Amino acid sequence: MKEVCVITGGGSGMGLAAAKYMSKDKIIIISGRTLSKLEGAVNELKELGFEAYAHTCDTSDRVSVKLLAEYAASLGEIKNVINAAGLSPAMADSEKLIRVNALGTVYINREFAKKMYCGSVIVDVSSNSAYVLPRFLMRKKVYDLADTDEELFVKKLVKRSNLAKSDYEKSGFAYAMSKKFVIWYAQKCAYELGERGIRVCSLSPGLIATDMGNKEAKEGGDMLKYTAENRMGTPEELGYAIATVADERNGYLAGVDVLVDGGATNGKMFQ
Ligand SMILES: NC(=O)c1ccc[n+]([C@@H]2O[C@H](COP(=O)([O-])OP(=O)(O)OC[C@H]3O[C@@H](n4cnc5c(N)ncnc54)[C@H](OP(=O)(O)O)[C@@H]3O)[C@@H](O)[C@H]2O)c1
Repeated sequence: MKEVCVITGGGSGMGLAAAKYMSKDKIIIISGRTLSKLEGAVNELKELGFEAYAHTCDTSDRVSVKLLAEYAASLGEIKNVINAAGLSPAMADSEKLIRVNALGTVYINREFAKKMYCGSVIVDVSSNSAYVLPRFLMRKKVYDLADTDEELFVKKLVKRSNLAKSDYEKSGFAYAMSKKFVIWYAQKCAYELGERGIRVCSLSPGLIATDMGNKEAKEGGDMLKYTAENRMGTPEELGYAIATVADERNGYLAGVDVLVDGGATNGKMFQ
């Protein structure tokens, strides 16, 4: 049976870059909402010698995620899931950000875990924005609701994001909370799914020169001065980091967040 690697948000940016570092022995499924984008990515991968397929999925819709997991399992054994689908503050309001980034992670981890076996791995892409969130905005009790009462979870996070003044700041808070949740939830899943030999990690990029990163560079560019090399990361650098974390040979890497932000988070201490 062939091994399958699924990449949500794989039609562009870091997800597509990660696909190019995966083993050519695997079937690659590229997923996202826009079919034309997915087809372009699949053609690129085919030209490089990959067996790749496009499958549309909106990760904020549980049924859509379930269908993606079923499709992936019908092609072979799901070995790697890279959950790179996401929206940034410039792209959506607070509620949408929480539904896609946070609940999307719940749906991906839960629905895929039903179809995965020992020796497989899930990597959820977070953000270094999670590291700058004020502590009072992170409540485990609220995050726990994501598994028990989704609507209350969304309502509570949106209410917290409304503490900010401008629309962009509201979305910025919601984005950071949703990404902090991604780190927390990946850890929660690591300990639950670890019993079945499924490894779960998150990875937090800094500002990266993808379509999304370029959109955020004006407002989010402040952090760049704290990076060791005073620059944005490239999609290729992040693609390699994500693919390495998702590689099953990295079998002892679980229950942690891998911070790949050029030193931006730690840089404040040295400047
Ligand atoms: N670039 C940065 O500076 C940066 C920094 C920190 C973290 N990140 C995170 O890194 C991940 C990858 O982002 P990127 O920079 O590579 O940006 P990107 O090129 O915009 O990739 C994001 C992908 O997610 C897909 N997507 C968005 N909403 C979706 C949904 N509801 N369901 C399924 N797919 C969806 C998009 O395609 P469709 O619109 O066609 O669905 C797009 O292909 C994201 O989670 C992002 O939050 C990025």
